[in-house]
Amino acid sequence: MNEAFRAVQITDHVYWVGAIDWSIRDFHGYLTSRGSTYNAYLVLGEKNTLVDAVKAPLKEEMLSRIASVLAPEKIDYIISNHAEMDHSGALFEVADVVHPEKIYASSLGNKTLIEHFHTDREITMVKDGETCALGNLHFTFLESRMLHWPESMVTYLAEDRLLFSQDIFGMHLATGERFTDEIAEHILNSEAAKYYANIILPYSQVVLRFLDKVKDCNLEIEVIAPDHGPVWRKNPLHIISSYTKWAAQKPTKKAVIVYDTMWNSTALMADVLADGLMEGGAAVKQMPLGTSHRSDVATEILEAGALVVGSPTLNNNIFPTVADVMTYLKGLKPQNLCGAVFGSHGWSGEAIKQLEVLMKDMKVDLVADSIKAKYVPDQDVLKYCHAVGKQLAERLAAVADGDQDGIA
Ligand code: FEO
Repeated sequence: MNEAFRAVQITDHVYWVGAIDWSIRDFHGYLTSRGSTYNAYLVLGEKNTLVDAVKAPLKEEMLSRIASVLAPEKIDYIISNHAEMDHSGALFEVADVVHPEKIYASSLGNKTLIEHFHTDREITMVKDGETCALGNLHFTFLESRMLHWPESMVTYLAEDRLLFSQDIFGMHLATGERFTDEIAEHILNSEAAKYYANIILPYSQVVLRFLDKVKDCNLEIEVIAPDHGPVWRKNPLHIISSYTKWAAQKPTKKAVIVYDTMWNSTALMADVLADGLMEGGAAVKQMPLGTSHRSDVATEILEAGALVVGSPTLNNNIFPTVADVMTYLKGLKPQNLCGAVFGSHGWSGEAIKQLEVLMKDMKVDLVADSIKAKYVPDQDVLKYCHAVGKQLAERLAAVADGDQDGIA
C-alpha cells in the first residue's frame, strides 16, 4: 500500500482521509478553476467508521491516509451519505480491503448504489432520523432528499457535534489547508457561492425545508464536514446563513448581461444596454461568452435581479455559445429575475424569438420588447438599447432587496 499520504485530525474522533484533486477543471460542465477535494472521514472509537469515499482512481490515496492512523482492515463500518461516484467510486473496492461488518446508506442510497455498481453486497438501510450507537459513538442519519440527489443523507456525530453534510455546504477548492478558517474569506465566499449556484440552486426550496428540519432536530452543530473543500470548524453559521440567503433568491439591483457576437454588433448593443443600466443606478456585470464560462455566468446570476441575453442569429439559430449557456441556466432554475433580449441579425433573425421562448420558460419577466438590429445597430436601435437599460434599472430599484447591493 502507498504510504505517502497522511490523515488530518479534524476533531477528537474524526480524521480527514480524502483525496485532493489539484488538476480537475471540468466537473461535468462546471469550471473548477481551483480544483477540488473528495472528502472521506475516518471516525475512531471503540468501533471505527468510515464516512463516504472518493473517486475510484483516488482509492490508493485514501487508503494511504487511512493507514497513517489505522490499519484499513480495522474499519468496522462504512456510511455512504451520497451515491454519486465522486464519493462512491472507490466505496466497494475499499470495502473489499476493509471487510466491514456493515455498510449503511439510506433506503434510496441502497437502491442507487445497487443501480450504479450492480452489486449483491448487503447494505443496511437506515431510517430518516434514526440514531445508531456504533461502539461508544452515536450517529444520527437525516435524509436530505434532492440535496442534491434523491438518495442523499447527512450524518451527525453527537460526541463531536459534527455534521457530515456530503455535498451540502461544500465547494470545489483544492488546498493544502483543511479548514475554512485557514483560507482567505473572499475565496471561500466565491467558491461556496459558485458551488451553490451550479449544484444546489435548482433545489433551493428543498434547502429551506432541510435547514428547518435540521433546526427542528435541535442538533448542536459546531463543525460541518462536507464532501468537497474545507471543513467549517469555526462559525458554521456563516455557511448556513449564506444558504438561507441564496435559497431565498431575493432580487438585487444587479443585472447580468450575457451575450456573444459575430461582427461586434451584438457586443455594441450590450455595451449601450449596460450604460443605460448604470445610468439608472443598477450594478452591471457583462459576460461576453467568448471569455466567460457558463458556470461563472450561473454564479453571477445567483445574486442578481436581471438577466439580459443577447445573440446574433447564425444559420437561423441562436449562436451556439448562447444556446449552451441558456440550456445550462434553464436547468438551474433561477427565480425572480426580470430581463430583456437583444441581438443583431442579417436576413432572418430567428435567435430573438428563440431566446424569448427560453426566457419565458425560465419565467424571466421581460420588461420591454426585444431589441433587434439588422446587420449593424443604427442610432435609433442604440437609443432603444439605452432606454431598455434604464427601464431595467427602474424595475430593479423597485424590486431589489434593501439589504443587498447586488455588487458583483
Ligand atoms: Fe460531490 Fe453529488 O457529488
